[in-house]
Amino acid sequence: MLHAGVVAPASSALYPPTVVPPDQPIRLERALFEYVRNPLRVLSRPVYEEPMVVFEPAKGRLVVWVTRPDLVEQVLVASSDTFTKTELERRVLGGSLGDGVLTSVGAHWRWQRRTTAPLFRHQEILTYVPEMSAAAAGLTAAWLRSGPGVRAVDADMIDVTFDVIARTMLAGGVPAEAEEIKREGTAYLANSSWELAWALMKMPTWLPHPATFARKRSAARLRRAVGDIVARRRAEGEGGNDLLGRLLAARNPENGAPMEDEDVISNLLTLLEAGHETTARALTWALYLMARAPEWQERVRAEVLDVAGDGRIEAGHVPRLAITDRVMKEAMRLYPPAPLISRMPTVEVRLDEVTIRPRAQIVIPIYAIHRHRRLWEDPDRFDPDRFLPEREKAMPRTQYMPFGAGPRICLGMSFAQVEAVVLFATFVRAARFGWDGRHLPEPISRVTLRPKGGMPLSVQPIL
Ligand code: HEM
Repeated sequence: MLHAGVVAPASSALYPPTVVPPDQPIRLERALFEYVRNPLRVLSRPVYEEPMVVFEPAKGRLVVWVTRPDLVEQVLVASSDTFTKTELERRVLGGSLGDGVLTSVGAHWRWQRRTTAPLFRHQEILTYVPEMSAAAAGLTAAWLRSGPGVRAVDADMIDVTFDVIARTMLAGGVPAEAEEIKREGTAYLANSSWELAWALMKMPTWLPHPATFARKRSAARLRRAVGDIVARRRAEGEGGNDLLGRLLAARNPENGAPMEDEDVISNLLTLLEAGHETTARALTWALYLMARAPEWQERVRAEVLDVAGDGRIEAGHVPRLAITDRVMKEAMRLYPPAPLISRMPTVEVRLDEVTIRPRAQIVIPIYAIHRHRRLWEDPDRFDPDRFLPEREKAMPRTQYMPFGAGPRICLGMSFAQVEAVVLFATFVRAARFGWDGRHLPEPISRVTLRPKGGMPLSVQPIL
C-alpha cells in the first residue's frame, strides 16, 4: 500500500512492441526483401530523428521521408495541388477500389467526395450511435455466451466494425455478401507488399509477382460481391437516403450524367473497406494496450460506469468519456492504423531548401512522425496523458495525424472517432482483457497496421 508522499514506482511504464529501425537507409535489393516482410522495416533511424531524409536507393529513384510538421503541412495542405496522390497507391489499391474517392484525383475525386461527404457531417454521425452501440452489444453478448477464454480479438474487431459500417451506410443493414467482402478485403491487403515492392522496382504492370494471381482473384470477388448489392438495389427501384441511394442519385456537376456503375461499385467498396479495417486495427491495438496496462484498463472502466452506468453508450455520453478518448488517441499514436501515406510532386519543388524533382516518391511516415525523437518525450512509451487538453492544444496539427491532413484528410474521421470511443467503452466495461505475458506482436504495415501473429487476448466477461 502507498502512503502519502510516496510516489508510485516508475516500473509500471509500458513500452509496447515497435519496429527496430536499421541505422541507415538500406539499398534497393535489401529494401525489397524487407518491404515484402514489413514496409516499416525500411524506415531507418534518421527518419525518426531528422526533419526529412532524402535517399536514392538506386539511380533515378528518389525517396523522401518527410516528418517535420511544417514540411508535412506544406506537402499535404499548403501545396496539396502540387503533391498529388501517387501511381504507387493506384497500383496497390486501384485493382479493387477502382477510381473511387480514395484513389482518384482532380475533378473526378472532387465530385465523388462532395457526393459522399454529407453522410459524414457531425449531426449525421450522432444519429449512427445507436447502431454502433447495438453492434458492440452484439459482440459483448457473444463473449458472454462463450465464457472466459482466449479470443482472436483482431478477428472480432473486423467483424464488429464491418457490422457498424454496413448498418450505418446501407439501408438494408448487413448484406448477405458481408463474409466474402471481409475475407477478400483482408486477403487483398495481405498481399499488398508484393505490389509495393514491384512498383518501387518500376516493374511493368504486366509482369506478374508471386501475389498477382491471389490479388486479382480477391479484387474480382470483392467487386462482384459489391456489384450484387448494387444490382439488388437497382432491381428494388433505387431510392433511399443511405450511401448507396446517394451514389445512385448523384449527378456529375459538369455534365449532369449519373455515376457510372463501375464508379458506384468503387465508391461503395471504398467506404465499406476504408470504413472498417482501419477502425478495427485501432481497436485491436487499444485492447492490447489495455491488456498490458491494467491500471489504465481500470480507469477507462470506471469512467464508462460513471458516465453511462450499465446502459448502452449514447451520443450524449461520447464527449464526457475523456479518459477513454485519451487512451484511444494514444493507441492510434503508437499504432496508427494507416501508418504510411505518400505523394508525388508534379513539378520540381523545394522542400526544406532541397530541390526535389518531379515524380519523386514523398512518403509521410505517420508511424515515424508519431514516434519522432524531436517531437515527443519518451516516444515509445504508452502515456495517454500526452492528450490532456492543454497538452494536445500545444501540438502542431501535423504532429499527431492518424487521419492525414489537408483536402484528402480521412472522409470518415469524425465517424471513426465517435465509433472507436463507443465500441471501446462498451468492450472495456463488458470484459477484462488479459495478456499471456509473451505475445509481443510486431506492427506490420499491410496498408493498415496489423499485429504479426494476430491478437490473441484473454477476454473475461464481467457479469
Ligand atoms: C481509425 C480509423 C481510420 C483511420 C486511422 C483512417 C485514416 C485515413 C487516412 C490517413 C487517410 C488519408 C490518406 C491519404 O492522405 O493518402 C484516409 C482517407 C480516407 N478515409 Fe479513413 N481512416 C479511418 C476510418 C475511416 C472510416 C470509418 C471511413 C468511412 C466510413 C474512412 C474513409 C476514408 C476515405 C473515403 C478516404 C479518402 C478521402 C479522400 O481521399 O478524399 N476512413 N483515412
